[in-house]
Amino acid sequence: MPTTEEIPVVIIGAGAAGLTLATLLDTAKVPCIVLERQDRTYIEGRQRAGVVDARGVRMFERWGLADQLLAGPVAQTIDYRVNGVGRVFEIAGDNGSEGRFCTQQMLVNNLLRELIDMRGGDVRFDVTDVTITDEDGQRPQVRYTREGQVHTIACDHIAGCDADRGVSRASIPASVLTTISHEFGYAWLAVLVEAPVVAHPIMAASDHGFVAQLPRGPQRSRYYLQCPLSDGTQDWPHARIWDEIRLRLNDDTIPDAVVLDCEVVPLRSVVHAPMQHRNIYLAGDAAHLVPPTGAKGMNMALYDVDVLAQALVDAVNSDDGSTLAGYSATVLPRVWKYQEFSAWMTDMMHDGGDPTQNGAFRQMTARARLDELFSSPVAARLHSDFQRGVA
Ligand code: FAD
Ligand code: PHB
Repeated sequence: MPTTEEIPVVIIGAGAAGLTLATLLDTAKVPCIVLERQDRTYIEGRQRAGVVDARGVRMFERWGLADQLLAGPVAQTIDYRVNGVGRVFEIAGDNGSEGRFCTQQMLVNNLLRELIDMRGGDVRFDVTDVTITDEDGQRPQVRYTREGQVHTIACDHIAGCDADRGVSRASIPASVLTTISHEFGYAWLAVLVEAPVVAHPIMAASDHGFVAQLPRGPQRSRYYLQCPLSDGTQDWPHARIWDEIRLRLNDDTIPDAVVLDCEVVPLRSVVHAPMQHRNIYLAGDAAHLVPPTGAKGMNMALYDVDVLAQALVDAVNSDDGSTLAGYSATVLPRVWKYQEFSAWMTDMMHDGGDPTQNGAFRQMTARARLDELFSSPVAARLHSDFQRGVA
């Protein structure tokens, strides 16, 4: 049966941004419906980012949700290597709670359990043809199809948490948005493997290109290998992946292990602004993308929805739309800080590696920059604050 409903907030997309926003709104008793095009099993199995930074941890603590949603050990070290020689960087804190190796998959699964199974939250999976009508003088409407039936929801606010290829940003007139982007000129082969956790996450510059090994749970790691943009997974048979990991980490003892998943991800940075138009508010990858080098993609999404949730609570529960009106202006300065850090990390780790990338001069200055993290307490402190998301 086709249905027509009314609700204050519709959230499009049940990823890290959409599920967190829905859980924060539910905590503040603001009714919302989440629409997601995939099924729940698919969402539960999706493996992506690996770290919730200190700012994100403190956000969940402030909303009283940290115990239910977060898991994994404290993230306080990174092993920065150059041609196989490693130095462990200690992320300095300020005695508050610190970042956690809480994978995005773990956070999303905990959100699904808390929001749907514990609280009965309204998340509608497997929807298609989501369309937004948000015109002057009319109440916004979201239409979607499920099991062949078209449904309509009238609402006051629409949260676009449907990432880069979703319908939310596409529903904002192109003339309203300015897009600023940067292409780094290379890609990463992202390889999920069955391998025991390493003592510290590894970020390594080598003359043969960048490689990282990052924890994704007790028995899984994500390796990232710099590769040309033109490469596809067919260029990377498993034997080549392991040979290249051993070469770039300068360690012949690393054994081959089971490869669970492999994809090529171009490194790029994008910001679409303003992050709102009329009653549509963009959050997470719908508004911005970062290269994963600084581990900030999911954390930017968490920062956006922290601000957006409070603004929606003010608008719906207190009839005060002023914080909502200022949403984009409030979050964009931090978006740009996270962009700057991600680009800084990306340039340092790649320029400092293969000299054919940007030349021997850039290689040596990038390695000098990396040295500063270990020789200058000021540089170390700033780097720690960016890693923690509080700079
Ligand atoms: P998503 O988590 O992508 O959620 C968006 C949701 O919207 C999805 O569930 C999607 O199905 C749904 N959707 C889309 N279109 C529609 C529609 N029309 N209707 C309804 N639903 C829709 N970051 C890191 O920091 N480290 C990493 O190692 C890392 N690895 C990554 C690997 C990959 C392959 C990708 C894609 C991203 C990675 N990221 C990583 C970035 C990080 O995962 C994202 O920044 C984060 O997922 C953003 O959360 P989000 O909720 O905005 O988007
Ligand atoms: C990650 O787990 O994706 C990660 C961890 C630490 C970093 C960068 C990425 O510095």
